Amino acid sequence: MADETWKTAITDIGPGKIRIKGYHITDIMEKLSYAEAVYLILKGEVPSKAEAELMNAILVSSLDHGASPPSVLGTRTVVSGGNSLNAAIAGGVLVIGDTHGGAIEQSAKIMQEWANKGDNMTAVAADLVDWLKESKKRMPGFGHRLHNIDPRTGKLFEIAERHGYKGKHIDLCKAVEKALEDKLGKKLPINVDGAIAAVISDMGFDWRLGKGFFIISRTPGLLAHAYEEMTRERPMRKLGPMPFEYDGPGEREI
Ligand SMILES: CC(C)(COP(=O)(O)OP(=O)(O)OC[C@H]1O[C@@H](n2cnc3c(N)ncnc32)[C@H](O)[C@@H]1OP(=O)(O)O)[C@@H](O)C(=O)NCCC(=O)NCCS
Repeated sequence: MADETWKTAITDIGPGKIRIKGYHITDIMEKLSYAEAVYLILKGEVPSKAEAELMNAILVSSLDHGASPPSVLGTRTVVSGGNSLNAAIAGGVLVIGDTHGGAIEQSAKIMQEWANKGDNMTAVAADLVDWLKESKKRMPGFGHRLHNIDPRTGKLFEIAERHGYKGKHIDLCKAVEKALEDKLGKKLPINVDGAIAAVISDMGFDWRLGKGFFIISRTPGLLAHAYEEMTRERPMRKLGPMPFEYDGPGEREI
């Protein structure tokens, strides 16, 4: 009979045994913070002090952003429709996409590809913005509908710099902000997704993990909103009461 065993390199379990990446869960519980443990399971090693502080700052940065983000409206709408907590959290997470929270993924992908195209990040950023213009694409991780300066961005870069994490992706990210202004004539601030994308790229994370950082960070916020909706609001209330108007075909018959 063929061997049907498949391999996983994440956690070794057995009766009375739980070892994540080789470390006993009981040691992790006692010695690592949540952010450090998340770093361990994603990267495979215990983070240095610098990496631990950055990981913590990333996970705290996107904890919540008020009641207006699409994922929060998703979570609250699912609750309002009379559904369970797990459905509400899943609903909110499903709303996270390339323009909301999930911009980390595509931003990190672009930065990881372009940061290798040269040593002068100002020149690389100029070429990158030309490419964006030609392909009529927006640069993920830039622009914000509320903030002219996203306070989370500066703080992440400050913590990164304090610990010597001023690598080429952060340099490229800052250069892109300038190039967007020069070439498009628009001030498009680096948003928290763009800053996280640059920092995780300098920390050596694969861009394909990008959306995960936002999901891990935002889930407690979604939980708080789901709970508040359940305990404070009436079921099926008017959520997102923006005026709208029908402009499709008028009444007709087949
Ligand atoms: C976040 C975002 C939706 C906010 O948009 P907004 O402030 O409402 O701005 P609009 O979508 O009305 O765009 C205004 C103009 O700026 C341009 N623009 C906005 N963000 C841009 C970006 N990241 N790259 C290039 N151009 C951008 C738009 O093309 C538009 O140009 P136009 O007036 O010539 O048509 C937008 O900046 C965006 O799509 N960013 C990329 C995705 C992203 O980073 N999302 C995470 C948000 S935290």
